[in-house]
Parts: sequence; structure tokens; C-alpha cells
Amino acid sequence: MAGALRAAGCGVALALGAAAAAAAPPALHLGGDVIYQIVTDRFKDGDPRNNPAPPRFSADCQASLLYCGGDWAGIAEVIRSGYFRELGVTALQISVPMQNTPIVQAKNGAPYHGYWLYDMKRPEPAFGSWDDFRALVHTAHGHGLKLLIDIVINQGGPLEHGLLRDDGRLLADARHDPEGRLHPPGEADYTRDEDMLYRSLYDLVDLNQHHPRINRYLREMTRLWLDTGIDGLRVDTVKHVSLAWQRSWLQEVYRHRPVYAAGEWYAGRNDWLPENFRFANDSGMHVLDFPVSQRVRQVFRYRERSLIDLATTMDAAAQAYRRPLDQVLFIDNHDQNRHTLSDAAEHRRLTEQALAFILTARGVPSLYYGTEHYQLGAGHAPVNRPLMATWQRDTPAFGLISRLAALRRQHPALQFGSQRTRWVTPEVYVFEREFAGSVVRVALNRDSQQAAEVPETATALPCGAAPLADVLAGQFGGPALPLGCHGRAGAFTLPPGAIAVWAGPLPSAATPTLGHAGPPLVSPGGLLTLAGRGFGTRKGRVWVGPRAVAGAQLLSWTDQAVTLRLPAGRSGALTLQLERADGQRSELLRGAVDRLGERLATLRLVVDAPPMAADETLWVDIAPAERRCNAGPERDGPFYNRVLYQAPTWYRDLSVPAGCRLTLRAVKRGPSGEQQAAAPWQLRVPRQDLATARVRIRHWLGTP
Ligand code: NOJ
Ligand code: CA
Repeated sequence: MAGALRAAGCGVALALGAAAAAAAPPALHLGGDVIYQIVTDRFKDGDPRNNPAPPRFSADCQASLLYCGGDWAGIAEVIRSGYFRELGVTALQISVPMQNTPIVQAKNGAPYHGYWLYDMKRPEPAFGSWDDFRALVHTAHGHGLKLLIDIVINQGGPLEHGLLRDDGRLLADARHDPEGRLHPPGEADYTRDEDMLYRSLYDLVDLNQHHPRINRYLREMTRLWLDTGIDGLRVDTVKHVSLAWQRSWLQEVYRHRPVYAAGEWYAGRNDWLPENFRFANDSGMHVLDFPVSQRVRQVFRYRERSLIDLATTMDAAAQAYRRPLDQVLFIDNHDQNRHTLSDAAEHRRLTEQALAFILTARGVPSLYYGTEHYQLGAGHAPVNRPLMATWQRDTPAFGLISRLAALRRQHPALQFGSQRTRWVTPEVYVFEREFAGSVVRVALNRDSQQAAEVPETATALPCGAAPLADVLAGQFGGPALPLGCHGRAGAFTLPPGAIAVWAGPLPSAATPTLGHAGPPLVSPGGLLTLAGRGFGTRKGRVWVGPRAVAGAQLLSWTDQAVTLRLPAGRSGALTLQLERADGQRSELLRGAVDRLGERLATLRLVVDAPPMAADETLWVDIAPAERRCNAGPERDGPFYNRVLYQAPTWYRDLSVPAGCRLTLRAVKRGPSGEQQAAAPWQLRVPRQDLATARVRIRHWLGTP
């Protein structure tokens, strides 16, 4: 059963050859999964022997800034109890597992949360040993669950303690840092990107990823954790580390073990920021989808936005993200107040509606532990991180999650389909998802007093003799849906507060349909996995641009997933097409994956420029100066001039191909968009992860 769940959930039961089977690549498409986020310390104490001694420990968890005893043995115990299988979740996301600074602060307590890093190459003793961690991975996999870890690449522990270790050896000391392994202390001004990148976050030791020793340490520790067999990364505070460094780090992650990776690019309510989408599209990592998830909370928790806003947001996000299917949706997490406002039926129903939405919407749903029991916690941490109170399996929310998670595992529509609005008013949202002949339709009426009359609308559901029954069996008020035979669904009444879900039949013989490709960055020779339906069971071919990949370069081929070795070719966004053994070809899948020509380097470009006005910014155009390095020209910026260097010296970390000769050109931009360029110059990027180059600009030439 567990194995079946896993295969159905992710659609990538890989049939690799004997050599590769031991290290079978994990699933890169989580569209059929439901993630369950656990604060490890607050879940289950499976082994009291590893509990820290006082004053770091609170046996009854009344001192909620201290450790409370939860550990990996406890999570494994819950897995074995069948709790997650019954709930229907298929992936667990746990707290940062690396060793944290063993201190207690009067104000902030102890690092039960995992974000005060001390030795990233060692497991956190309060959570268990390496053996306990490996046992957790093994238990999770044995029960059809993927395991995702939270990982920190930005910081160590509090500055007052200031030490960072490398498997026991001293790596950095905030009080004595002659080589600059750490960024300069000084709390960040969160309105400035430069401060967020190069200064301390919450007075925590801030790692200088551009120092070779720190760069090596972060890569080594990442490999160490990837080698335990984990399936994915939730990357902490990605706003605080340069995008360039993260791209090259991810290139290495995907080469080593291509796992799913999503970064926490935090955005507040009503934030709709181009930088968020740029990160999701260019960093090589997906994101926790704050723009959409905040809107979901605004609609169902705060009731300050309408269902029309939600529908509009889904459409806008589909345009803004290159890979809308891969972004993580949530209704609350360990940094937000809990979704459920009170035990009142009305508030519980709003949580159920929000859950039903993310469990059926485009994206990867992630649930926060305890939400299945309507856990309250109308404050921020630590109020929203209590000890797991009950293992009840009979709440309506538990049943709802279980039913919709099963639907997600079964229906390609929910795994790959785009989202189309069929009817929307301020209180009602009816949408459909469709993929390879599978169709799921959802209707929500937020109004707890008034029924809604939904008129006849278009549908992709096939006609049926009898009205289509609600998947939730009317338990949340959903009626049966009358279906006509010409792409029309009949009018129906949606009771107050109703949640209705209708699913069409599961089509069997689909034509080949590509739904997903990953990871987002692949180097030649690296593994690329395509997912979808109707690929057939015999090997066909995959077209990567004009090139056919066949035979031994296809490492596995099933009806729902194909893994291949990427051939060399032009760098940039790939166009992919699958050709079945019978010659039938899928539609093209464009733009989901970037091929990288070379190893990526992070180039810190330092520019001494003529004095500029306060409202002028500096950018740089980067173009390869040799055919071998065939990435297109690109503009990067704005450059910074306050923290590591000060005006009139500017700097920025750029993502560039190692070993390539580049043509660079600085461009000055004025407040109304007017531009002046400097003379271009050439530079050869060294063949290493990190490089720094300094250039002096004597004068501006004119409009570029
Ligand atoms: C974001 C995490 O989610 C939050 O809980 C933490 O305090 C900060 N990053 C710092 O690591
Ligand atoms: Ca324990």
C-alpha cells in the first residue's frame, strides 16, 4: 500500500538500471503530493534520553521558548502508527536538523526551532543522532512518505555566542574574524536588499558565502545531508543570500542528487513583488508561494478580500511564475498566526474552505501540523508552535484532507492541470482543473448565511446520465452537479458555507501529455525528469530542442515519467517534447527547465564609478564573448554601495559561467529611465566557484 501511494502520488516510479537503482533520484514533481510541516521539537517525544538538560528544557512545554522534547524518533513513531497514511499526506517537512547553538537567551530562549546554527555537519542532539536521522528517512520511505528538510545557508547562531563549527573544528568566530568569513555585524534595515544580503539577520552570525572556506563548508554540509537520502529542501531566508550564489549552489545540489527545492522568499499581505517572481523564475529554486498563500489567508482567515480577488490572483500568478505548478501553497506556518480563529463552527468552516482550496488548487499544498485538529494560536511564535495536542483522526478537517489528498494522488488534473475560473462572485468561486482528460471542479461558498445560485456554466466535465455526486459526499454541503452534453454544467444551488468537489472519470488511454519537467536547472550529462500521462511503457524518444534523446540516454521510461541524461547544446530555456514508441508526439513543453552550459561561478563585480546622483542606479550588461559560452546577453543590477563597499564604489554578485570570456558594460540609470553606458570591457571568469573583479569607469559615453 505504501509503495502504491508513493508511485501514484508522484507519478515517478523509476525503473532504473541496477547501478543507478541504489541512488534512484527522488521525485521532482510534487504536484500529486501533500506536504505536512512539522516543528520537530513540538511534535512527539520519542526518546526522552536526548532531551536537553535544564535550563534549555521545559518538561511540560509551559516555557514555550525552550526545548520541549520532540525528536526524530517521535516522528518515526507517528509514521509507524499509520497517522500520516490515514491523513493522506505524502511528504513531511521537518525543522532544520543541523546542530544549533547550545545556549539560552533571556529574551529568545533556546533554539528549539533550529535556526541558530552551530555545526551544520552534525545532527542536532536534541532531535537525535545520525542513526536516528537515517532511521527516520528509512521509516518515511518505507511508508511511502518523502522527507523534506529545512536548510539554512545564511546564518549561524546569536552574535553574542558567535561561534560556528565544521564537524567539531572551529570555522568562524564573530569576535575574531580577520579573513571576513562572516559579514559585518549590524542589524539589517529590512527595507534595503543590500542590508538583507550582507548584514546580520536578527543579530545572528551572518555567513559570507563569498569566502572560499564558507562556500566549501556550505556545499560539503549540503552533500552530507543529501546523501542521507532526503527528498527535498525548504531553504530558509533565501532573500538574505545572493541569488547568484544560490544558483551555483543549486546547480551542485541538482548534480549531486536532484531533489525538490523551495525557498522561503517571505512576502507580506498585499505584497506582489517582481523580486519574488524573479527569484522563483531565475534562482533554480521554487518558492513558498507567499503572494498566493497570503491572499488565501486574506480571503478565508481575515475575510478582507473577496473570492474574485482570489481568482484574479491565481490568474496573475500563473502569468508571473514560469513554473506555477511547483510553488508551495499554505494557509499557515510556524511564522504566521494559525488559520483557525476560534472553535466556532463558522471559523472551522473557513479553515476547511481554505484547506479545500489549497488541496485542489494549482501548486503544492503544505499543511502545518495540528491544522487537522483546528489548532488555535492567534499569535506569532511561539504561540503558533505548541506541542501537538492530540492524534485524533475523526475531525471533519482530518476527513476532508484525507479525501482530497487521495483525489490529488489519483487525478492528473490536480497534479498538472492549470486552473480556470468557471464562475466567481465576491463570495463564490467555482473553478476547474484539467489535464489529459482528467477534470476536477471545485465550488466554494464563503457566505455562512446565504445560499448561492450558480447558473449554467461551461465545463470540461464529460456529460453523464445522472448528476455527478460530490466527492465529499455532501458532508460540507456540496450538491450533485447536473451535467449537459455540450460542455455545459447545469445551474445548481450552493448552500451557505458549502465546499463541493466533483471529479470526472479517470481516462485510461491518454495521448502522450507532458505536464512537468525538472529540476529547473540542468547541466549537460545531468538528470532531467519529465512527468505526465500516456507515455506508454516501451521506450520512445524525447526531443530536447532539435535533438532526439533515445536508447541508453533514457535512464527510465514508465507511462507517467521519464528520466534522461541531458545532452549538450545551447544554454537557456529548453523546449521539450515526448515521442511515444508508436510515434505519437506530445505537445511541446516550453520554458520549465534551463540548460546551463558551464559550471556557474559567482562573480563579485566591484565598480569604481564617477560620482552619481543619489537617485541614479548602476547596472551591468553581461554577454558571452566566445561562442562556446552561449548564454544570451543579460542585464543585472542594481549594484550596491553601502555595506561591503561605499559610494563611489559599487558591487554586486553576478551569476556567470566559469571559464568563459565575457563582455561587460556598465549602465547608469536615472529616475525616469534615462540611461548612459560606459565603454565595454572583457573579462575571463576563472574556473572556480568564486571570483572578484574590480574595474574603474572613467566616464559615461552616452545612451546604450
Ligand atoms: C525564516 C524562518 O521561517 C523563521 O522562523 C526564522 O526565524 C528565520 N527565517 C531566521 O532563520
Ligand atoms: Ca526527546
